[in-house]
Amino acid sequence: MADTRHVISLRDLTDADLAWMVRRAGEIAVDPTARHEPLRGRVIGVYFTKTSTRTRTSFTTGALRLGARVITYGPGDLQLNTGESLEDTARVLGGMLDGLVIRTAGDPDEMRLIAEYCPAVVNAMSADEHPTQALADLATLRARFGRLNGLRLLYVGEGNNTAAALALALPRFPGTAIEFRTPKGYGLAPKVLAEARTLAGRYGSWVGERHDMESLPEADVVYGTRWNTTGTSKTDPNWRRDFAPFQVNAAVMARCPGAFFMHDLPAHRGEEVTADVLDGPASIAFEQARFKLHSAMAVLEWCLAR
Ligand code: CP
Repeated sequence: MADTRHVISLRDLTDADLAWMVRRAGEIAVDPTARHEPLRGRVIGVYFTKTSTRTRTSFTTGALRLGARVITYGPGDLQLNTGESLEDTARVLGGMLDGLVIRTAGDPDEMRLIAEYCPAVVNAMSADEHPTQALADLATLRARFGRLNGLRLLYVGEGNNTAAALALALPRFPGTAIEFRTPKGYGLAPKVLAEARTLAGRYGSWVGERHDMESLPEADVVYGTRWNTTGTSKTDPNWRRDFAPFQVNAAVMARCPGAFFMHDLPAHRGEEVTADVLDGPASIAFEQARFKLHSAMAVLEWCLAR
């Protein structure tokens, strides 16, 4: 389809696209009213088959603030449930909607099929990548530090879709360092880690992964994520035993002096992070959550109004 812009994977974005969305999110954070309503007259579909508080609200609120109208679909709403094919669904929705924001448990190929028929498709989290989370995270970091180049991030927890998105985004900024500390058996997908290391070689950044919590690196940010990633379950009944050493608590933060704490949320206090860290002075997790709205607006503007 001609003249379309999708955000399905960060791999698809040029450096300029990525930088534009991060910068634009920062501008919107300063003035989120979007008074000129660049999406006035547009209709955006928001189709979520998995639970969401932040992403669904941010894209819905963001589209409304940008002047669009919104149709929301939950997991039981579309005729997909009664056997209509994804392709037919996409052909119909693409003929009526200006954009579609999608969260599924499926792989991005489903979104790419929809994107063949729909002018703008946004991946609001698929099984293997959460690109708009990373955009919000980068915008949060840029607002907090005034730059992205040279920042050092220590990620602690499962190598999930948020981790994948960070691995595909942060190494594109020169001088950054991102170290993943993931439980053995729950690390980054090897393909994603290899891609991230290739990016690091190209941009002069650094990417590493270890499966322990020894010898933590110096970090500007410690990043936590829930142990049960949305839409997933673990087959090993003893999985908590593997995750327990990876809790971010005061002792971990003390080993990273001066670091801020980020979390993609939702959080489970007492599991992946203790309450004193999540609710403590170093935490910028709720500022980060607010950036979900600013970055969603930037994504929608980039897709439909730039
Ligand atoms: N971080 C995130 O994607 O939150 P939700 O699942 O609530 O959208």
